[in-house]
Amino acid sequence: MEYQANNHRYSDMEYRRCGNSGLKLSALSLGLWHNFGNIDPIENCRAILLRAFDTGITHFDLANNYGQPSGSAEENFGRILKKDLLPHRDELIISSKAGYYMWPGPYGEWGSKKYLFASLHQSLKRMGLDYVDIFYHHRPDPDTPLEETMSALDLIVRQGKALYIGISNYQAEEAKKAFDILKKMGTPCLIHQPKYSMFVRWVEKNLLSLLEKEGVGCIPFSPLAQGLLTNKYLDHIPADSRAARKLQNGAMSEDDITPDNIKKARQLAVLAAERGQSLAQMSLAWILKDQRVSSVLIGASKADQITDSVQCLKNYRFTEQELKRIEQILAN
Ligand SMILES: NC(=O)c1ccc[n+]([C@@H]2O[C@H](COP(=O)([O-])OP(=O)(O)OC[C@H]3O[C@@H](n4cnc5c(N)ncnc54)[C@H](OP(=O)(O)O)[C@@H]3O)[C@@H](O)[C@H]2O)c1
Repeated sequence: MEYQANNHRYSDMEYRRCGNSGLKLSALSLGLWHNFGNIDPIENCRAILLRAFDTGITHFDLANNYGQPSGSAEENFGRILKKDLLPHRDELIISSKAGYYMWPGPYGEWGSKKYLFASLHQSLKRMGLDYVDIFYHHRPDPDTPLEETMSALDLIVRQGKALYIGISNYQAEEAKKAFDILKKMGTPCLIHQPKYSMFVRWVEKNLLSLLEKEGVGCIPFSPLAQGLLTNKYLDHIPADSRAARKLQNGAMSEDDITPDNIKKARQLAVLAAERGQSLAQMSLAWILKDQRVSSVLIGASKADQITDSVQCLKNYRFTEQELKRIEQILAN
């Protein structure tokens, strides 16, 4: 069936400025790490993507290695883009990344200029694009000079193959060095993508304050701890869940569903219900309460999860008492 975009798609979404840049991102962004590969039904991929766009989500986050096999998420995104979303290309922010293993030999991972440049060309071809909106270095490389990695990002922007650049998984100290190098080159870093959820909080120590000071945006990934911070695992492990699917590529497994995690998730779910939210909605709201967060980067295996998750925007304010209770639950 021919796709007709929802005419009201921009009415309920919030758009936040990304750092000091001119770019606004939807408060929720959709990532295609899992559920968009060749092992996943393409009609479901399409349903999720179109639901996201119809809900006001403008930002879609990919990487060279997303999907099983690696690269297939970009291929499938490219197929759906061509079929349904190409008339809306200028309403979309499309991101890709390189840093993790992608092809054999010395040029297929990490942070050399050779790898980043070649990988972006492959990504553009897979997605059928002339340029991406944001291109990230996916993880720090301890062996390549930071100047080389950053100059690759600068080159990519100067050639018009990406409009903005970002870094991911960099600790605060190495991020600061990268920002300084990029500033000198005249291509400021747009955004940092760290892992952040109620269960993983390292960014609170010194990264969020650094990003605010530097005028760099922040887009936390895995805000639901891959599903642990939802109602999904409270009683059993559903057969169609990420944990039960035994995926590779860093996906959670049944071993991550520990009695301690479940105990905390159950107590958090009680508080969420008192707030009139699902645990997923409260977990996203808890991240979005901080205005230093430009957008929260969610995953989804079903279109209805998108509809459920965006409801977090109805209430991302917390009383002091609620925040204290969350701290107590997480500390126990
Ligand atoms: N830069 C990096 O190194 C890096 C690393 C990891 C991820 N990322 C990015 O971050 C994105 C999101 O990561 P993630 O998928 O781990 O995020 P997440 O939002 O923490 O987890 C997504 C999973 O949670 C479950 N879920 C989502 N919404 C739900 C809802 N409303 N109710 C119940 N369950 C719900 C689904 O699990 P089921 O599949 O079980 O239904 C879904 O697949 C990735 O796609 C990728 O773009 C980046």
